[in-house]
Amino acid sequence: DCMTSRNIIKLPGFIDVHVHVREPGATYKEDFASCTAAALAGGITMICAMPNTNPPVIDRASYDYASALARVSARCDYAPFMGASSSNFDTVSEVAPQAAALKMYLNQTFSTLTLDDMTIWQKHLQNWPKKMPVCAHAEREKTGAVILMASLLDRPIHICHVARKEEILIIKSAKERGLKVTCEVCPHHLFLSTSDIDDIGQGRAEVRPVLCSPEDQAELWKNIDIIDVFATDHAPHSVQEKNSEKPPPGFPGLETILPLLLNAVHEGRLTLEDLINKFHRNPRKIFNLPEQPNTYVEVDKDYEWTIPQAMEFSKSKWTPFAGMQV
Ligand code: NCD
Ligand code: ZN
Ligand code: ZN
Ligand code: ZN
Repeated sequence: DCMTSRNIIKLPGFIDVHVHVREPGATYKEDFASCTAAALAGGITMICAMPNTNPPVIDRASYDYASALARVSARCDYAPFMGASSSNFDTVSEVAPQAAALKMYLNQTFSTLTLDDMTIWQKHLQNWPKKMPVCAHAEREKTGAVILMASLLDRPIHICHVARKEEILIIKSAKERGLKVTCEVCPHHLFLSTSDIDDIGQGRAEVRPVLCSPEDQAELWKNIDIIDVFATDHAPHSVQEKNSEKPPPGFPGLETILPLLLNAVHEGRLTLEDLINKFHRNPRKIFNLPEQPNTYVEVDKDYEWTIPQAMEFSKSKWTPFAGMQV
């Protein structure tokens, strides 16, 4: 029968530690129902939800509000991030037992939580429990600065969406020194660069970190062993917003990450072990996430697919990967 002619492999449920659900506050972009439907359609069975919502998730009240919404409509497992603000450093760790991690925004991005003052970073890095990760949006020289500060305090730090040669190389050096640093890379920085901006469109191509040079992109692949985690940074905005004069930065990614990574396995740029380590085992370990029993993903290894203009479940209705053969 047709089942025996297919080349089906069974993989663990994948874990995406960087997802912008947009609920509460911007449910026209995405909500828990649509976001987790997109996750499951993409082979992702657990997400960590980012705190840059409206209101942002920065204290007990906003945490309770967001998790009540998640509980009624999420279709897969989820763990919430707490956001570091310039005033919650003495209180946010009260919610640590219920959270995946603390998120610090150290550069300007689509967030109201940007921290400019390094003395505030220090307070957060001191007060958040040492056994739990602090995740940082820390581009360019901020990467080195936050790694130094975390290591002075002898606590782990996770660097979000590493995109540039200078960032992956400072992380490599820190790891060689034995510092407690881990990092993630997104599919758009692995599979796209400035040379794709014309095809995607200038406005739609806006993302933080920006799409980088082919040299930066090559350096990520060259240092694939330094990368602990693959994560989407699923950052949906409506297609109308992305086509507008002032497009907000961010790409959807939940429904395309696994096909793109499996294609890299097919091309021999990645092993299946690398994929399972960086998209299941390491996220579990770094974020202390529970194993999901009887949860797995079936993949038809021979199935060929052209990524369409928009994916089925995310409300974003566009993708920067349209037209790619996987
Ligand atoms: C993210 C968003 O839209 O929430 N945007 C982005 O370009 N990555 C914010 C972020 O992750 O920096
Ligand atoms: Zn970010
Ligand atoms: Zn993000
Ligand atoms: Zn497992």
